[in-house]
Amino acid sequence: MISIAIDGPAGAGKSTMAKKLAAKLQYIYVDTGALYRSIGYYVIQKGKDPGLETDVESCLPEIQIELQFIDNTQHVFLNGEDVSDRIRTAEMSMAASKVSAFPAVRKFLFDIQRSFAKKYNIVMDGRDIGTVVLPNAKLKIFLTASAEDRAKRRYDEMIEKGQDVTYEAVLEDLKQRDYNDTHREISPLKPAEDSVLVDTTGLTLDEGVMKILEVVESVIH
Ligand code: DC
Repeated sequence: MISIAIDGPAGAGKSTMAKKLAAKLQYIYVDTGALYRSIGYYVIQKGKDPGLETDVESCLPEIQIELQFIDNTQHVFLNGEDVSDRIRTAEMSMAASKVSAFPAVRKFLFDIQRSFAKKYNIVMDGRDIGTVVLPNAKLKIFLTASAEDRAKRRYDEMIEKGQDVTYEAVLEDLKQRDYNDTHREISPLKPAEDSVLVDTTGLTLDEGVMKILEVVESVIH
């Protein structure tokens, strides 16, 4: 089985690019952020604090997460319920970033992520895929762009979905998540030593995809 790991900060275009890449290679695209988001979602639904370790840990035994691929699109089932759309809000982004700092959460999600790599050819995106989850991935890409570029892309996406946000709030949120994700003690966001750095600052998504495809083609085929 072949695995491609794509890591990088929020808003770097990981999911868009990983999806296109997976479609082109006919691999399965696995979005691991959705798993952390689902845990954040559950904790909030329970009226608990996603930033409080004891609150989050007490929820884990009640949580069952399953990924299904329907028409090539990943769906996350939380205790049997499809929460794929509900986890896509700014509140759930921040909740995911908070719960992801707790070792028990990372341990809880480790096997589910690994099991896909054993069964399928995959493109998996996240923060620690190349460093921790799939250290033997055939190709590791660290995808990044300036915070301003990332915020602009995220802002445009949210406006398109009809969400009520300002660019400044999106930038602030993103900087806070960057800080959380790179400063946590366990599996912080950082490039794997053997990763290829792809910086998409100033590029459109299509140009970014072209850049990644060049890297992939030189390694995979
Ligand atoms: O990729 P995303 O924006 O959906 O991820 C949401 C949060 O989940 C992110 O801020 C950090 C956390 N995360 C993580 O810690 N490790 C991963 N492999 C994926 C996401």
